[in-house]
Amino acid sequence: MEVQSNSLFSHQSQAASGGKSIPENDAYLKKVVIAAEEKLKEEIAKNFDITKLFNSSKSIRIADVGCSNGSTTVLAVENIIDAIKSKYKSQGLVEDQTPEFEVFFNDLESNDFNTLFTFLPPNREYFAAALPGSFYKPLLPKQSIHIVHSSSSLNWLSEIPKEVRDPNSPAFNKGKIHYVNAHKEVMEAYAAQYDKDWNTFLCARAQDVVVGGLMALSVPAVSDVKLSLDTHTGRNFLILESCLTDMTKLGVISEEQLDSFNLGLYHSSPEELIEIIERNGMFSIESMGKIVDGFNAKAIPVEKRALVLKGGMGGIFKRHFRNDELIDEVFDRFAKKVTDSPLNLQCTDHKMVIFLLLKRKP
Ligand SMILES: C[S@@+](CC[C@H](N)C(=O)[O-])C[C@H]1O[C@@H](n2cnc3c(N)ncnc32)[C@H](O)[C@@H]1O
Repeated sequence: MEVQSNSLFSHQSQAASGGKSIPENDAYLKKVVIAAEEKLKEEIAKNFDITKLFNSSKSIRIADVGCSNGSTTVLAVENIIDAIKSKYKSQGLVEDQTPEFEVFFNDLESNDFNTLFTFLPPNREYFAAALPGSFYKPLLPKQSIHIVHSSSSLNWLSEIPKEVRDPNSPAFNKGKIHYVNAHKEVMEAYAAQYDKDWNTFLCARAQDVVVGGLMALSVPAVSDVKLSLDTHTGRNFLILESCLTDMTKLGVISEEQLDSFNLGLYHSSPEELIEIIERNGMFSIESMGKIVDGFNAKAIPVEKRALVLKGGMGGIFKRHFRNDELIDEVFDRFAKKVTDSPLNLQCTDHKMVIFLLLKRKP
């Protein structure tokens, strides 16, 4: 069987190329958007400068980057528009002085934009367009976006660090699929990739966002830099890894396939994020705070854990292994491990979501 490169750019989509919308997973993502609502509205009201931002443009342009194909993005966009409209109202501006809104829904090219369009409310107050492509590149003409939003997406790396896949590197991640429980060089390679990706993201946004423009970002994070086995996500990854190891021992998966497979997700600490943003220097941090503390894994019944995980990760597996039956077996084994021993999933979760309000510096 052919072993595929694990570059996230080459797959062109994570969630969309095999990952499925699973109600429990969507509910968690929606929970993040709802948790951000109050802070998002408060910070937009405080920081959206109508006279400066809007003097040269007829419409306000909003981009939701890494929007996926579900209803979450529509909700987030409505929150942003509500916040801007109430800002106009608070300044005594009447209805016909409020701007028109253009909303760009961004995700990778193979995202299921058609499904996303079915969630658009028929009576929406904005013009909608899909914006396919990686958010690690400029997405629209220079200085044209007023507000960028992103939720639960900026922990997806642009690619798996090369050293992690290189048998000659000390960071080679033999027999493992992530930095959880791996040796420190693997963790360092992931951290360096995250740093590089965030810097690329900020430089790309510095091009397409207007001076004074805002970015409202909800970013999955952990309290210390290590995504430990004490987190729900860390535990899931380890169980998945053990399923793949079992299948390798049985000869269903080759050692080479296992060694070249890694999950491209990184969870930073808040301090790490601050350091990256300040070093990049193109955006000021206007606000930063925890909006979700811990992941209430107990809300998902044990028998549904595999399904939820497959919904989020299925695309990554599909791209690498290119064999639906094999992938079904991985997640069936996962389901068996957690139902046979639910203790496998008991942990104190340190995963959280950080809300950031950034402003493009002059
Ligand atoms: C966990 S989903 C979050 C979706 C949505 N924002 C929400 O809150 O429901 C992460 C999304 O980020 C997208 N994504 C990952 N890397 C991306 C990239 N480089 N450019 C654009 N989208 C990306 C994935 O395709 C996926 O749809």
